[in-house]
Amino acid sequence: MLTLGGKKVLLGISGSIAAYKSALLVRSLIKKGAEVKVVLTPSATDFVTATTLSTLSKNPVSSSFTEIKDGQDNSEWNNHVELSLWADLIIIAPATSNTISSMASARCDNLLLACYLSAKCPVYVAPSMDLDMYKHPSNQENLNKLKSFGNIILESENGDLASGLKGKGRMMEPENIIKYLIKDLNNEHLLKGKSILISAGPTYEKIDPVRFIGNFSSGKMGFALAEVAANLGANVTLISGPTSLKILNQSINLINVVSANEMYNEILKYFFNVEIFISAAAVADFVPTKSYKSKIKKTENLNEISLKKNIDILHNLGKIKKNQFLFGFALETNDGEKNAFKKLVSKNLDAIFLNILNEKQNIFNSDYNQGKYITRKKSVSFELATKTDLSLKLFNEIIEDL
Ligand code: CTP
Repeated sequence: MLTLGGKKVLLGISGSIAAYKSALLVRSLIKKGAEVKVVLTPSATDFVTATTLSTLSKNPVSSSFTEIKDGQDNSEWNNHVELSLWADLIIIAPATSNTISSMASARCDNLLLACYLSAKCPVYVAPSMDLDMYKHPSNQENLNKLKSFGNIILESENGDLASGLKGKGRMMEPENIIKYLIKDLNNEHLLKGKSILISAGPTYEKIDPVRFIGNFSSGKMGFALAEVAANLGANVTLISGPTSLKILNQSINLINVVSANEMYNEILKYFFNVEIFISAAAVADFVPTKSYKSKIKKTENLNEISLKKNIDILHNLGKIKKNQFLFGFALETNDGEKNAFKKLVSKNLDAIFLNILNEKQNIFNSDYNQGKYITRKKSVSFELATKTDLSLKLFNEIIEDL
């Protein structure tokens, strides 16, 4: 049975009515074998008492930077750095709009925020608020900011809210938090020791020194895959065409290229030392037959540019691969599944992801994607999700199929 055995959990509780559920969360964490310490924000003490939580956690509960001992005036400092370093993981449940906003902007006016800002371990955040407050762009922006810091959001659930309204915003139920944690902590090392090479972004093929043929790819899918893989313990090299994206996990070896030929040459330097190659790049299919050395002047009356087929990187890799797991992406407008499967076979791939275009979401530059993961044996559908969430699901499939 999977447990949280031996995990040291620092539970931060902020001032929401859902704080009463945190007592159940403490009990469930302990039942699963975790050791728990609790930090309350000052307003959380209006909803739940330190006595309840220290009885359940069998540890003292802190709510301020200093503690008055035995009613005497010899107050003791609660060392937030020590508390954070003690923890294997921090859970902030419930996390109010106020606490989330402070976390996103490095405000540090209570002990919980000081612990959060000093944390080196994974941080799980369970938002709890009313539906409209939850939907407000400022809250959504703050949650995205926390995600970009690598914090894990325990998505709020739908249902009855304390206001009497119904909708999304209530804190994830303690039993679901526990299930999520166990699954996530097991996944933590899913790719430990694996070497993964990923291509991302567009390629630019020069017409002259100032003009090129390219495409609208933002590189977001490839970058999300790289971040997730690195967070799951993989050794990641990311070879990217021109994009404005930045990597967050500094362990990623990022190599910038411009054209398909440059991309191919860089890929070849790493290809034979990796176990998985993911081709998320939108390689330009056509390249000008001639690249002008100097800028073409308007007076030259250029009416057409002659093009030839560009190198098909993935096709070439399919021919020379040894044991590498080759994973490609397919963009189709007609007969999606059939054409994606054809590409899987013709490029000698192990798996391919068929991007399914969504009327509301433009796939280019979107943070979301949906589609089908297809191998010779199966086809698994994935509903619209953030590229980060989708990446995690895709790695679960890849590991199963490796
Ligand atoms: N790919 C590649 N080199 C190319 C074209 C595509 O490595 N010159 C890779 C892409 O990174 C992707 C897969 O091949 O993983 C399929 O790309 P896609 O654009 O869907 O297909 P194409 O092979 O270009 O075929 P078509 O555009 O005709 O559908």
